[in-house]
Amino acid sequence: MCGIVGYIGYEQAGPFLLEGLQTLEYRGYDSAGVCLNDGSELIVKKAKGKLKVLRELTNEGNDLKGTVGIGHTRWATHGEPSDVNAHPHLSESGRFAVVHNGIIENYQQLKDSLTAKGIEFRSKTDTEVIAQLIEYYYKGDLVDTIIKVLGRLDGSYALGVISQENPDEIIAVRKESPLIIGLGENENYLASDVTAILARTRTIYRLENDEIAILSRDGVKIINTDKDPVEKQTETVDWDVNAAKKGGYEHFMFKEIMEQPKAISDTIAPRIRDGRVVLDEIGLSAEELKKFNKINILACGSAYHVGVVAKYIFEKMLRIPVEADLASEFRYRDPIINDKTLTIVISQSGETADTKEAMKEAQRRGSHVISVVNVVGSAIAAESDDVIYTWAGPEIAVATTKAYSTQLAVIYLMALYFGDMLGTIVPDEYKALVNELEQLPEKIEAVLENKERIQYLASKFFNSRDVFFIGRNIDYALSLEGSLKLKEISYIHSEAYAAGELKHGTISLIEEGTPVIALATHEELIGKIVSNIEEVKTRGANVMCIACDTHKELEGIGETVFIPKVCDMLLPSLAVIPLQLFAYYVASLKGCDIDQPRNLAKSVTVE
Ligand code: AGP
Repeated sequence: MCGIVGYIGYEQAGPFLLEGLQTLEYRGYDSAGVCLNDGSELIVKKAKGKLKVLRELTNEGNDLKGTVGIGHTRWATHGEPSDVNAHPHLSESGRFAVVHNGIIENYQQLKDSLTAKGIEFRSKTDTEVIAQLIEYYYKGDLVDTIIKVLGRLDGSYALGVISQENPDEIIAVRKESPLIIGLGENENYLASDVTAILARTRTIYRLENDEIAILSRDGVKIINTDKDPVEKQTETVDWDVNAAKKGGYEHFMFKEIMEQPKAISDTIAPRIRDGRVVLDEIGLSAEELKKFNKINILACGSAYHVGVVAKYIFEKMLRIPVEADLASEFRYRDPIINDKTLTIVISQSGETADTKEAMKEAQRRGSHVISVVNVVGSAIAAESDDVIYTWAGPEIAVATTKAYSTQLAVIYLMALYFGDMLGTIVPDEYKALVNELEQLPEKIEAVLENKERIQYLASKFFNSRDVFFIGRNIDYALSLEGSLKLKEISYIHSEAYAAGELKHGTISLIEEGTPVIALATHEELIGKIVSNIEEVKTRGANVMCIACDTHKELEGIGETVFIPKVCDMLLPSLAVIPLQLFAYYVASLKGCDIDQPRNLAKSVTVE
């Protein structure tokens, strides 16, 4: 997630801005920049790469002149990581500077209308539109201007604005993306995260949505978009710096599990317009799409598990044969791939060596490649024919959660988009599915609220050995992810098994007390999975069951966790939450290093 800092006082702002950005480095970023008002104009210094580059460029901020300034660390969403796309962004004349966290969903329309009026843009970012709009509407009152601009923006934003016109003010605005105001003695601070200002003050305001803060040296005024003053209580932060980095959570993994509703909303909302899925990122016409007689999905680990879910969904909805392939196997199998195969490559980091090389193998054989990637500008994103970014923000924990979930969300978008193009989804079903997809974030919130029950169940299972995850159809695909999550962070051996396969050998391993986690959400096969659960129970298994709340009869079948009923396509996004939490709580009880499990790396850039 991007980071924002700001300072207004009587000291030189530069050193504080660089220090503040340094404390936000953990959030992940690909470029950084600062802008200061040196008393006559706005001076911007920004650079792609780590903060070290900016620190050297500015001599740790000491070469920067000015007692008012803003700074930013960028995690790219719109526009590759580069010097020009780094924040802060200036308006055309250079009189206004903006830093921004969030996504402006309608930036392209706004940019097109300003370009048509002759305004020249420097970057490919959504953020620059805000700076240009402020200049375009500015008639002398900066706050009035900003309020007018906010009325044009769709999406989420935390903004910091300084200007040549108002050299003794920083204007800050919040909508969805968090923003903090720090209160000092004859100086005040702006930050996206408490961490950045703890060294200076522990007295803060937390801005709420649609609140505007006007920071000056001797105070902070907070108003709403009607310019009415807003009375706010200050808060005293007693966190230590380390705790603050995780937003108060003990581990990044838990923080990222809890961020999933927002990550999914950020990923799907900009791609559903007037009830229709819009994937402008895919450069295939309906005619070109119809030419494909096979879809091949390449990935590793959890991304591969998304591919297995996608196989069930695409085959059901698009009626095209789909293969989900382990990238490391695909490469050396002399695969049957040609220009009639559509290849989909899934990778959070966009740098996984096996996946990258498998993609090149598919391209060498003439296949069109669409990648689903979280890191903007990464190798796989750059070298695929089309890329659909997941907007999960940086994922710090090695064990993926929110990136996995946003990859699932992109699969749903693709299934609807392609199904509409191929005519394999009837209009009423299409409309109903889009509607359910838009409600997915709040359904996930509901499942997250049940986390204490999962914590209790983890306490019953955490001493287990050899845990089995079983399911059928899409539940089987999901059991793969549940098993991997448990293995990689708790070091407990587990196995994901197609429930129908148990009787063909593995059931011999089930004995008194063997833990079996049964996924029983797929409506059509509920009877079959119940039989499989009974089979393992008669052999002594200790069952935990994940089921939809429309099947209360499963209450007593084992330790049952209910999730809200949704259409089959979306079930994995809800059923995976208890599995992520289960793995997290088990590993926590075992005292494992949850964010950095032994032997693992966040991105496997070697074979
Ligand atoms: C998932 O929790 C693991 N960290 C790992 O399996 C990961 O999914 C795999 O290495 C693929 O990484 P990628 O998505 O960055 O390509």
